[in-house]
Amino acid sequence: MKYDVANRRIWFKGEILNVNDAKINVLAPTSQFGLNVFEGIPCYWNDDEKQLYAFRLEDHYARLIRSLKLIQIKAPYTVDEMKKALIDTVKANEYDENLSVRQTIFVDGFGSWGSEEPADMFVAPIPRGRTSAEYNKKGLNCCVTSWQRIDDTTLSPRIKCGANYINSRMGQREALRNGYDTCIFLNAKGKVSEGPGSCFFMIKGGKLVTPQLTDSVLESITRDTVITLAKESGIEVVERSIDRTELYTADEAFLCGSAMEITPVYSVDKYSITNNVGEITGILHKKYLDAVLGTDEQHKAWVTAVY
Ligand SMILES: Cc1ncc(COP(=O)(O)O)c(C=O)c1O
Repeated sequence: MKYDVANRRIWFKGEILNVNDAKINVLAPTSQFGLNVFEGIPCYWNDDEKQLYAFRLEDHYARLIRSLKLIQIKAPYTVDEMKKALIDTVKANEYDENLSVRQTIFVDGFGSWGSEEPADMFVAPIPRGRTSAEYNKKGLNCCVTSWQRIDDTTLSPRIKCGANYINSRMGQREALRNGYDTCIFLNAKGKVSEGPGSCFFMIKGGKLVTPQLTDSVLESITRDTVITLAKESGIEVVERSIDRTELYTADEAFLCGSAMEITPVYSVDKYSITNNVGEITGILHKKYLDAVLGTDEQHKAWVTAVY
């Protein structure tokens, strides 16, 4: 049976429940301090094959394990158990549409921000149309936010934990207040880092340029996918620090991520870049969609069939 989103089934502490019955006490460190790590795992419905494909599942779990290690929470489940939980949850909802699946390990109980346990997990599928507005636009008018991106000396953006998203929120709220779709953060050195929930790429002189992983960015799976697909297409990829003024003179630019896919940046701080999908951005987006839909034979290993 299919459920409306307000009654969708989620996996919670080993059971599949109506989302309204999955309850966490208000004093749990996850609710008090955002003490959790998570993944947003994209799943794409391939209508020709009547199959739902989860994208780069192993890589998402590898990053989740790295986040757990860095924040010192013991993994309460094995990767196989996590994978089974995702598959069982999607099947319980009989989803045949594109999803972002939130898989979160959280610290429960009555401890505080220093607690390591008890840790548990929930798995919640989010139909794609229901994610934040900036993830569903054709192109983005961005600002450079006045808030600095968190960095490895304070709160590492390498850790995908709930608390990090308060920094994202500050930038995103500022962007919306000032009439932009979203923002781009600079890091502590004043170099371009990333969007609030996405990575940044620009095209200059035919080369694809993106900040290095040490420029205060998440180790994004889409970033890695885009780099791989670009290299295979004969596009030169350069990972280097980017100055703010380079944003304003890019030939093309895009933000990318599991939720964002590849979305063109139309302008930054009202400096126009393009008013449509740029040529290289368009090529990469098409290749990305082929990969996530499981139609790219070369990258079939990136997808896991749910049904
Ligand atoms: C801050 C941030 N950067 C980048 C990304 C893109 O990461 P991924 O491609 O693994 O979804 C995300 C999305 O999860 C994010 O939240």
